[in-house]
Amino acid sequence: MANQFSGNVFEKVTDETRQGEVLQGIEQGTKKMYLESYGCQMNFSDSEIVASIMAENGYSSTPNLQEADVVFINTCSIRENAEQKVRGRLDVFRMAKKQKPEMVIGVLGCMAERMKAKLLDEEKVVDLVIGPDAYKDLPNLLDQVESGQKAVNVILSREETYADITPVRLGGNGVLAFVTIMRGCDNMCSFCVVPFTRGRERSRDAHSIISECRDLFEKGYKEVTLLGQNVDSYHWSNEEENVNFAQLLERVALISPLLRVRFSTSHPKDITDEVLETMANHENICKCIHLPVQSGSTTCLERMNRTYSREWYMNRVEAIRRIIPECAITSDVIAGFCGETEEEHADTLSMIDFVKYDMSYMFKYSERPGTFAARKYKDDIAEEVKSRRLDEIIAKQSGYSLERNKEAVGQTQKILVEGFAKKGNHQQCGRNSQNKMVVFPTQDHVQPGDYVMVKMEDCSQATLIGTFIEKL
Ligand code: 5AD
Ligand code: SF4
Repeated sequence: MANQFSGNVFEKVTDETRQGEVLQGIEQGTKKMYLESYGCQMNFSDSEIVASIMAENGYSSTPNLQEADVVFINTCSIRENAEQKVRGRLDVFRMAKKQKPEMVIGVLGCMAERMKAKLLDEEKVVDLVIGPDAYKDLPNLLDQVESGQKAVNVILSREETYADITPVRLGGNGVLAFVTIMRGCDNMCSFCVVPFTRGRERSRDAHSIISECRDLFEKGYKEVTLLGQNVDSYHWSNEEENVNFAQLLERVALISPLLRVRFSTSHPKDITDEVLETMANHENICKCIHLPVQSGSTTCLERMNRTYSREWYMNRVEAIRRIIPECAITSDVIAGFCGETEEEHADTLSMIDFVKYDMSYMFKYSERPGTFAARKYKDDIAEEVKSRRLDEIIAKQSGYSLERNKEAVGQTQKILVEGFAKKGNHQQCGRNSQNKMVVFPTQDHVQPGDYVMVKMEDCSQATLIGTFIEKL
């Protein structure tokens, strides 16, 4: 399992560079399941739903592949290399199955949805293929496999939100939890496979979200991250009420001032001043917005079908700066999208200069089968040009990540303690409201889940280094 105190666990990492995480954490049951997850935070959250369904059906978890009766891999399709990684793991499972032929191998998630039954033809080792909206059907599919057939369910739903399933919290430290508030995406960005793998957008019942968050707080959790592909378009209603994202955020924030609230991901076309004002009004709504720009060029954004212009995006950034001056802004950026000119690339660089992001995930464009871009545009930027542009973006962003951290040096900030820092137990770590990792010398009386004040003394690009002031 990835170190639970590493930065990745707390960020929206729609990034296949995140290592697969092996499930541990459910105990009851006689049959054993081994589950590895890749990709974004939503996938990790889905694995918690899968774990819950499997526990109900008599499975316990094992971190030991060879011990498993059932091996699941929850997959990501966002870029080609994410899928390559899964293929590599299937090779390892093939070896394990040679030793234990009765072992069931299942592929879950986005790659299952994208490839459907074709995956069974290409990867003979796979027995079961199941898409992100079909997890309740897992017990039936396992029965089918037991009777000697291969099993597939990749039906996407317009309704499924798993609101009635209490996720089994995996791999955490009992302080931070992720709560899915909506599924799917209706945006159809031309480069993106997600609308095809996760289906139509739907919002989860607001009451089930609030009760899950309240329950987490009562169990001792101190931070919830509300997850969706596009949280700003959250809307749920019944006969009595209509709830938009700002209102949902406020309701979660009102559970307790001691419960921090984060959310991801915001879409620049949808983020409203009402959301920003709600953030400003509640100290416990963390001051960090992930607002992927993708490109700084209006013409490139048009080809990407992002439905906003460079000016619109800048206006949203200005609104954030006006309403929540201390707010961190992070981004996703794609280098070398179809037809990207040097001028368009320069616009992306100048956008980074304009926003001075606190952090960014930066990628080379990777063509995904079936997307609008794959069908209509040519993936015509040479690999070395993509690499050079990505390097330029990374170099610029690295400078600003450091600069933003330096701005915090000298300040005393409130940190939610998560545990020990990576390098041993002489340092503890946690995050400030802006989602920056802070380390400070270990205090005997400070535990994960405590709020402490720390004075920032120094920093690197990724971490703030501080001295302990007091426990709150
Ligand atoms: N190629 C490269 N990056 C992509 N992303 C989505 N699709 C692609 C693709 N085809 C990036 C976007 C998105 C993040 C989750 O992944 O930046 O915001
Ligand atoms: Fe993909 Fe765009 Fe939806 Fe994000 S908003 S998941 S990039 S289609």
